[in-house]
Amino acid sequence: MSLSSVDDLKQPMTWPTGGATRIPYRLYSDPEIYALEQERIFKGPVWNFLCLEIDIPNAGDYKTSTVGETPIIATRDENGGVHAMVNRCSHKGALVCLKEKGNAKMLTCIYHSWSFDLAGNLKGVAFRNGLQGKGGLPDDFDTSKHGLETLRVETFCGLVFGTFSDETPSVESYLGQPMSKFLRRNLGKPLKPLGMHSQIIHNNWKLYAENVRDSYHATLLHTFYTTFKINRLDMDGGIVLAEDKWHHISYAKRETFDEAEEYKRSNIHAAQYDSQLDGPQLLNAWNEFDDGITHSIQAIFPNLAIQFTLNSLCVRFFVPRGIDKTELFWFYVGYEDDTEEQTAMRVMQGNLTGAAGLVSLEDGCINEFVQRGTHGSEGKAGLAEMGGRDVESSDASRATETAIRGFWTGYRKIMGIA
Ligand SMILES: [Fe+2]
Repeated sequence: MSLSSVDDLKQPMTWPTGGATRIPYRLYSDPEIYALEQERIFKGPVWNFLCLEIDIPNAGDYKTSTVGETPIIATRDENGGVHAMVNRCSHKGALVCLKEKGNAKMLTCIYHSWSFDLAGNLKGVAFRNGLQGKGGLPDDFDTSKHGLETLRVETFCGLVFGTFSDETPSVESYLGQPMSKFLRRNLGKPLKPLGMHSQIIHNNWKLYAENVRDSYHATLLHTFYTTFKINRLDMDGGIVLAEDKWHHISYAKRETFDEAEEYKRSNIHAAQYDSQLDGPQLLNAWNEFDDGITHSIQAIFPNLAIQFTLNSLCVRFFVPRGIDKTELFWFYVGYEDDTEEQTAMRVMQGNLTGAAGLVSLEDGCINEFVQRGTHGSEGKAGLAEMGGRDVESSDASRATETAIRGFWTGYRKIMGIA
């Protein structure tokens, strides 16, 4: 199914009255919408995260990834340049790179041994001139016209981004000033890989895009956050939206926690526990910055988020694997100049997140509950009025869904839904 505009949908799509405060459930389960997203978002004017620069530090390194559903190869060439190509042989369409990562001088398709350089140019065709004077490609076959399909590439703060669109502005312009500045805060010096894992979550990818922008849920769903006072709404904090609303930063300051009465009065299950940690050293974090922020999540449209919880720094990348299936990658990093103790602390605090993490295991299933709960109600819509109906930054409270409204504002625009 290949669609290019909402006009191509068999079932017409318009946004309900209420704008970004209403989220049509159909968007989580309509295969035509999903197909349209592949064209308008992932192949559209966005910067897609491809990998970390530290995934491909040396000449010849490559890393496979996906942009939407399209398989991608990111490479480092002999001169240090970074390239990205569709992982699809220009001959018959087979995957060229089969491994998650590796090192090679040439990228060779195993099907018919066509080989490409690290920039994707076709360099070798097996039996190009046939055998013993017979067969082979026509004389006018032009290898320069049959390289791998390339993407524009830019790196920023150790992140490698790619785009299919000629219209996407520079990464820094795409992010805007507040987003670029905060990325520099978190990722602006040489990174050290600490490990990664991935999990399949059984929901549409946009439910995770909402979830990482949902500062309201963190203190309600995540018992560990609330009980151990890592991220609560009664800490100083706020939400910063990008100028175009696509991206956001949510931040909290643990030191200025002042327990709010509402936690006791409301029926909040996460506030009912009085547990103690057998290993309290888990939370012996050191202050990385002098801005007082001890927890932050920054989401970059469409499917990237950077988490800095205490000293756990992690790049989260969530990839659509079908209308109701998403692969969520967690790339844990530290800094090259970390001490051994600092590295050990980051690794230990990595236990907060991930598929079995002390904090975020709940997110692995909550989005599936929405996927299942909305099944059969495609004509109805969800609600996002917490914190008001506008789509603006909020420095007063994080009991707001403004970043979710921001995501849908951007989504609606890029999808061209009236
Ligand atoms: Fe969560």
